[in-house]
Amino acid sequence: MKNNQKNKIIGSVLIFLGLLVLGLVFARFFGSSFGRKILGADIDPRSSQLHQNVKEAFAQSYQEDPMLPKGKLKEFSLTAAENEVEIIKGYKTKVWSYNEQVPGPELRITKGDTLRIVLKNSLPDETTIHWHGIRLPNEMDGVPGVTQDPIQPGETFVYEFTPKDTGTYWFHPHVRGAEQLERGLYGSVIIEDPEEKELFNSDTVWVLDDWRLDQNAQVDPNFLLPHDVTHDGRWGNVISINGEAQYSQAFNPGERVRLRIINASNARVYNLNFESLDVNIIAVDGNKSAEFSKPQKFDLAPGNRIDVEINMPEKEAVFNVTDTFTGRKNTIAEIKTTGENIQAPQKRIKENENIKKINNAIDLPVDYEYEFDGGMGMMRRGGLQWTINGEAYPDVTTITYEKNGLYRISLKNNSANIHPMHLHGQFFKVISKNNKDFQEPFLRDTVLVEPNQTVDILLMPKDMGTWALHCHIQEHAEAGMMTLIKVE
Ligand code: C2O
Ligand code: CU
Repeated sequence: MKNNQKNKIIGSVLIFLGLLVLGLVFARFFGSSFGRKILGADIDPRSSQLHQNVKEAFAQSYQEDPMLPKGKLKEFSLTAAENEVEIIKGYKTKVWSYNEQVPGPELRITKGDTLRIVLKNSLPDETTIHWHGIRLPNEMDGVPGVTQDPIQPGETFVYEFTPKDTGTYWFHPHVRGAEQLERGLYGSVIIEDPEEKELFNSDTVWVLDDWRLDQNAQVDPNFLLPHDVTHDGRWGNVISINGEAQYSQAFNPGERVRLRIINASNARVYNLNFESLDVNIIAVDGNKSAEFSKPQKFDLAPGNRIDVEINMPEKEAVFNVTDTFTGRKNTIAEIKTTGENIQAPQKRIKENENIKKINNAIDLPVDYEYEFDGGMGMMRRGGLQWTINGEAYPDVTTITYEKNGLYRISLKNNSANIHPMHLHGQFFKVISKNNKDFQEPFLRDTVLVEPNQTVDILLMPKDMGTWALHCHIQEHAEAGMMTLIKVE
């Protein structure tokens, strides 16, 4: 063979190999940048009659209050700083808190009011506040690097928004949550509906948290321990309600109480039991339910809230509130009735009539799938990682959703751990578990996905902007278990 013939053959082989490599790179690149997985057939599933029907039915359950009155401006100042509180009687625990209290102040307003919060950061770390569950303008959502820059030590930031909905919400930092929430940074936001107010004698908030404390009642400073990251996050050894271990609250016999329960724990899930007390869940994640149910049917995961109606017995009594999520019974509080008898209001709160069972929702094709993987042995910048569709935050693909479109989304847990998934800025409805019809009579913003389980939800994005979707186990989120959606 002549030399230049040989060169020609080698040349073509090289060109061929080069193109092959280029092709593979492109395939990979597009394969991952179009993270969208439509499992429908060749006809556009979005134009089908079924899609239309489900969309109309869902729109019916997800209404905005057209009558949002013009309220007042309510201003609060919050200072995040280090100080000491008494979680266990007789011990001073060093915490990070808002206004020197754990939980931070209860921000209680009336529907239609505008909240203005002046946050001063006196922590030794940067921070932000996320207003969990509240539908608000995107730039007030508190996600660093997405909706705002982190607030540096010594700086002040003003949050201002008019919440769209009534109900029980809460706030917490969105910077290094595994440490900042664990040290005590959280508080409640209550948006009252004046009409519902008259249906109860009293209205009270319980913020649940668990702490990992040493013998001197100090917070264990080993955050993000590999064992916690690779399992179900950091579970503490002391459970507190409103910042106190062994919490006890007294009510009057006969009164009807609205109790709003918020799970602010980094990772612990609660399944609450109130012994023989007459307790009904009336709202979940701020949203009134179409069917009232017993609290022991609800797994209160990190981020979740339930509002319960309690009808106190007409005589003096003591009840233990226990948690049995892990199968072991923990007594976490005590409710007593004592003192004068109080007459409960005649009228009781009514079920939410807007939420109805949606026919054939289970037959709707899946629009997007989010798969959760991770755990032991996966390396990311020298650490452990949790991924959504193989990606760890911040290296993620943002999927764009159309405002007022209807989507069926699959949350698929491929791991042996639990993941309470939270979506910012929207409520959604659970329609199936492991592909079996499972329609909940309420909307949520956080849902617990159990090991090797698939939970499908209906989503109708309403508010424009870039919103986070993440696991609310702080140790999982910080190991990458967060992605973004964009509503246009
Ligand atoms: Cu309460 Cu992004 O979380
Ligand atoms: Cu998780």
